Amino acid sequence: MRLFHPRDFSRPARALHFYRRITLGPDSNGRFRCVNIRSEVQSLAKRTMIVDRRNFLKTMATAGAVVVLPSYTAATPAPGSFDFVFFTDTHIQPELDAAHGCDLCFKKIAGLRPEFAMMGGDHVFDAFGVNKVRAGMVYDLYERTEQLLGMPLHHAIGNHDVFGVLAKSGVASTDPAYGKKMFQDRMGRTYYSFDYKGYHFVVLDSVQPTEDRLWEARVDEDQLRWLRDDLKALPHGMPVIAVVHCPLVTAFATYAYTQIVGADRKYNTMTVANAPDVLQIFENANVPAVLQGHTHVNEVVNYKNTQYITSGAVCGNWWRGPRMGTPEGFTVVSLRQGKISWRYETYGFHSVVPPERP
Ligand SMILES: [Fe+2]
Repeated sequence: MRLFHPRDFSRPARALHFYRRITLGPDSNGRFRCVNIRSEVQSLAKRTMIVDRRNFLKTMATAGAVVVLPSYTAATPAPGSFDFVFFTDTHIQPELDAAHGCDLCFKKIAGLRPEFAMMGGDHVFDAFGVNKVRAGMVYDLYERTEQLLGMPLHHAIGNHDVFGVLAKSGVASTDPAYGKKMFQDRMGRTYYSFDYKGYHFVVLDSVQPTEDRLWEARVDEDQLRWLRDDLKALPHGMPVIAVVHCPLVTAFATYAYTQIVGADRKYNTMTVANAPDVLQIFENANVPAVLQGHTHVNEVVNYKNTQYITSGAVCGNWWRGPRMGTPEGFTVVSLRQGKISWRYETYGFHSVVPPERP
């Protein structure tokens, strides 16, 4: 058995490599014990770490891991005031100067000094329809570039982050990295929640591969059950900020109808097909904002008491200029004692190819 110090986990990806399962309990000295199962050898490599509460939470935030506090019996802090960054759809690839673009973007985010960043999915372009060499290469490129952020990170899964599902990839479904496993091994869990300064953050997985090796935008039954329990356990009125790749609520279909009809997809891959199920769960909680990606168009829809903020993409129109009027960029979210405001920022990328006609 080995004892870990928080400095062992200075790189988020490295920390996530170790944490697969976490159970907690304060001992008589008020310290937390967590038991972790290393991903590659889950049945063998149990690790134990004992740290004080402050360092424990700091380490978990850095790891982007699920933090499940034992209960909310202690006084929950009032919602605090701080900024964080939501960036989404980097679609990093060696082509089209994309890595340089991410480099520029991450340096600008780092310069703003937010308390942490949340990534809304589609880290890479692409893992969904390519072989293992290409998928591994773009993931490596993303992980290297992400180090420039130098802050705690929390990731959501996007459709392009799922490995080898499209038949054209040639990947067997028995491949150990198939589907979401590649993401889980590198980035961590696909849905989870954590608390920070009086707010509850929920990250959802909106990508469900289908048996015919396509996919549907959906929040599955296990996740709905988990979300119901997760929100039910919160103190009354605690603000919840959710992150999801495919939008739950968007006006995209109203101004881009031809794109949706033209795609002629078998499944709903534009918005979460069972969004009403998720929204019904939200109705029992205080959810001021849901942060979304996927369309690459900057937009907000107020529905009931929630702002559904879809952020423009870091890659704009897949590194070919602005996407339907939204330039390459990210969203800065400001929380002030339970109130939320946000702004969209660009970072000065110039595409190396002429913009495509809409
Ligand atoms: Fe995307």
